Amino acid sequence: MPRFTHAISFVEEVAPFVRLCWEMGWNEANGGNVSWRLPTDEITAILRRRFPNARQHPAVPLPQPQPTLDGEYFLVTGSGQFFRHALDHPDEVFGIVQIVDNGTAYRRVWGYVMGGSPTSEFATHLVGHAIRKRVSNGRERIVLHCHAPEFIALSFLVPLDSRALTMALWQKMPECIVIFPDGVRVVPPLLPGTVTIAEASAVELEKSRIISWSHHGIFASEENPERVFALVETIEKASAIHRKVLSAGGPQRGIGQDLLIELADHFSAMLVCEPAFLKDAG
Ligand code: 13P
Ligand code: ZN
Repeated sequence: MPRFTHAISFVEEVAPFVRLCWEMGWNEANGGNVSWRLPTDEITAILRRRFPNARQHPAVPLPQPQPTLDGEYFLVTGSGQFFRHALDHPDEVFGIVQIVDNGTAYRRVWGYVMGGSPTSEFATHLVGHAIRKRVSNGRERIVLHCHAPEFIALSFLVPLDSRALTMALWQKMPECIVIFPDGVRVVPPLLPGTVTIAEASAVELEKSRIISWSHHGIFASEENPERVFALVETIEKASAIHRKVLSAGGPQRGIGQDLLIELADHFSAMLVCEPAFLKDAG
């Protein structure tokens, strides 16, 4: 298959990952969304060079102001757009917006050529970006929301408890504590696309890059498309193992606390933070 190319290098990089998420079975129809905080100098240079006559769109008020994101550019999937179409119709699936007016509004600067607007979950994406930009000192830039089936299945099988879910996943594969030492934080079942779910998510995103929208999906923040994909892939794999174990009658044993501590020590240079929950792990 010929390599996918696009005038905007960030679209060229993210679109194949978005399509891959559909191939993984994580993003049926318009399910899920992605937003990427782009480096301002690079994206403004690309837009100036490639789209010098782009029309000025009006500012659209945000439901929750995000002053720390003022001026930032985001590549965002459009509401109602299909991940499956990312390579065939990138200019419809994606758009670029800039946060303006001291973080109280956004303005479209490219994309959404068939009309439309950023994902209905944009409020949570922005609150997630504001928090994770601060907590990670600017390292994290991309947020991916997927309807990953094994992960969702667990929210029907295990308590809606961050520690219980995190320990269950850590105990299934040695990589888990290394790849997500911050654990998975659980948000209760709430109406998608609302300020309520954004506010509840904000509390948990202070503590972890990964949250569970119970009975709905995963919401994860990382540095770039490759890394956020790898993070979700690992969590979904561990979820599948855990679900299989539960289906077979429940675990007879798990990776024990001593080995988890050894893993965290041995790979300490790779951890994004001190492991959560480990000290009080039973
Ligand atoms: P959007 O099509 O608005 O991105 O919504 C999809 C979704 O998964 C809502 O949680
Ligand atoms: Zn969703």
